[in-house]
Formats: sequence, structure tokens, C-alpha cells
Amino acid sequence: MSVVRFSDVCAQGAAKAKRVFIRADLNAPLADGRVSDDTRIRASVPAVKMALDAGAAVMITSHLGRPKEGEFSEADSLAPVAQRLGELLGREAPLVRDWIDGVQVAPGQVVVLENCRFLKGEKKNDEQLARKMAALCDIYVGDAFGTAHRAHASTEGVARFAPMACAGPLLAAEIEALERALEQPKRPLLAIVGGSKVSTKLTVLRSLAEKVDQLIVGGGIANTFMLAAGLPVGKSLCEPDLVAEARAVMDMMAARGAQVPIPEDVVVAAGMDAPGAVKKAADVAAADMIFDIGPRTAEKLAALVQAAGTVVWNGPLGVFERDAFASGTRAIAQAVAGSSAFSIAGGGDTLAALARFGVTDKVSYITTGGGAFLEVLEGKKLPAIAVLEERAAG
Ligand code: 3PG
Repeated sequence: MSVVRFSDVCAQGAAKAKRVFIRADLNAPLADGRVSDDTRIRASVPAVKMALDAGAAVMITSHLGRPKEGEFSEADSLAPVAQRLGELLGREAPLVRDWIDGVQVAPGQVVVLENCRFLKGEKKNDEQLARKMAALCDIYVGDAFGTAHRAHASTEGVARFAPMACAGPLLAAEIEALERALEQPKRPLLAIVGGSKVSTKLTVLRSLAEKVDQLIVGGGIANTFMLAAGLPVGKSLCEPDLVAEARAVMDMMAARGAQVPIPEDVVVAAGMDAPGAVKKAADVAAADMIFDIGPRTAEKLAALVQAAGTVVWNGPLGVFERDAFASGTRAIAQAVAGSSAFSIAGGGDTLAALARFGVTDKVSYITTGGGAFLEVLEGKKLPAIAVLEERAAG
């Protein structure tokens, strides 16, 4: 990893009495004005603790939602997040509403700086705004992997101008896990890409087709691949205009001796509320809708997962929220959980599936990135990481 780690800075005693500005991703869902899922806040606690333990004066900020810049809105205030962070830290974490022109914080204290997307110029990565943020601190800590694909003032610009810029423990762990999975993977490298549409994941599929040994497709994406393989899909969700793209991905893989396993059986129904029936893929009727892979396909794919050296997973294989169509995703989740492969999973639906089947803690690494994870799978360099690499290179 070619970034400076905040843990090393702290270990060298270089954060003592320094002003540390942490950009975290505390973009947590709220319900009735309270945080309803604190996963991202928990994931950001180690950076704050590390800074406090090192004797720093700590400022932490994040975006929440997508508010209009230049305006405060109660609904997007970090107040509930600051409260939860304080509970998790077991100490006061007061919220500072107006902070861009100066922050009062002493060594050993932490303050939460209100939603950085309230600031005009944040999303355009305005240089003046980024310089003002940088002027607040001695050390900038980028720890927001979930927002690392955004070149904003608080994620990218500030890192160019702060006296020192480094990666927090969460960002460092994310980079490490992704490098392990995609740059030096133990082979076979297997990717599972599910979801409703090829169109939303076309660049991911193309990029993975150049790297992975097996590419398992699921959901509506698999239906388009079935069509490309000459199989009937009835009334299933699919994109006939992307059949050529699907075929191109299969051809790219075949040329490398790699495979896109096409379902040989599926679970079909007349609608999401109708009872499901297992059919051979070749026997799907004109009125059928495919909602899951069938048991033979699930068994074959599970065997591939078991034999993999590395597994990367984004997107379920069927409508796993319904019991009738959950078997395929459950079989794969259990195979990932039981496999000795290094596994990395991310994305809201995938994490919901893992939680539903009770295997979240059996996956080697759960990424906090949604869009950021997809952009890594697309082979893109994330701006918030690239800037830290540039700073580390001097
Ligand atoms: C997310 O929820 O994926 C991140 O917090 C990024 O949010 P954004 O898509 O609003 O930039």
C-alpha cells in the first residue's frame, strides 16, 4: 500500500498535541431522527480512538445525505450521528455547527463538524474551501472509504493542502483487502455479480472479465446472459438490447480460458407472489418469470465457490427477500461462509442477504463502500485514495 498510515504516524508519536481532521463516512440511515443502522459509525470509531489515544485534538466530519449546498437543513444535520458516536466512544462528541473559519478543540477532545455538504463548494472540490479545511489541521486523516469515489473538498482537495495527509485505519483496511482480492489474488479468483440490470454493472462486468477466473452472474443480469447463451427467459427481467454486451463478456472470458457459468436450472413463477417451480433453463415458458437459480445450478456454483482462492461478491442471485426465491443466494452465501477463500463482499443487498442467512461474520472482509466498491471493481482509481498516494510519494 503506497499511502501513509495514520497508525504509523501515531506510533511515531507524531500526532501528540496535533490538530487532527478526520474525514469519515458517517452517512448512516436515520429513522425518526435517530440512527437506525450504526455500522458506518462503528467502523469510524477506531480512527477517533487512535487519534485520542495519541493525544491529538480531534475533529471529525462527514456528509449525511445529499443536502443543498450553502443551506443548513435540520433533516441532514449530523446531530443524531454525533450523539451515536459519543455513545460508542463513551464520551462527549459535541457537534460544531459553524466550523469552516475555526474550531476550538483541545488535545484529548473530539468534536464533530456539521455535515460538510452544507458548505458551498464541497462537491465541486472548490480550492478555497479545501484550503480552509486544510488550515484547520496539522494532520488530515482520510478514512471515508464509502465516499472515496467522490473528488470533493473534504475527501480530495483538503488532502492536497493539509500539512500532512494519511489514511485512517478503516481506509487502510479497505485498501489492503481490495488489493489482496484484486491485485494479488490467490487463484482461482471468482466474482459474483448480481443485481437487476447489466446496464448498471456493464463496466464492472467488463473489468472483471479481464481479471477473474469465474464470473458468476445473478438476478436480472443472469437472465440477460441466459438470453445471450440462446436460452429462453419468458417474461423475466432482462435487457435484450444488451445481449451483445453479455456475449462480448462471455467471449472475453472464454478467450482467457475463464468462464461465465450459465444457469442450467431456475426457479420460475407467474409473479413475485405466486408459488415458485424449478425448471430446466431450456424449458422456461413464455409466461414464466425467473426469480432464482435452481438447485442444480446452486450446487455447481457453490462447488466453484468452495474451490476458489478468492471471492469478490456484489449483488444477490435471486429475490432472496422472499422465502420461495431465497435458496440460490442462501446456497452461495453458505458456500462463501464455509470456504477457505479470502472473501470480500459489499453493497446494500449483498450485506442484507448475508445478514439474513446469518453468515456476515464468516466473510473475510465486509466493505463499507457501496458506490466506491463498485468503482474499484470497475478498475477505477478512487480520487480520495489517489491523492493520499500522491502525498505519500512526495
Ligand atoms: C454512500 O452512501 O454510498 C456514500 O456515503 C456516498 O454517498 P453519496 O453517493 O451521496 O456520495
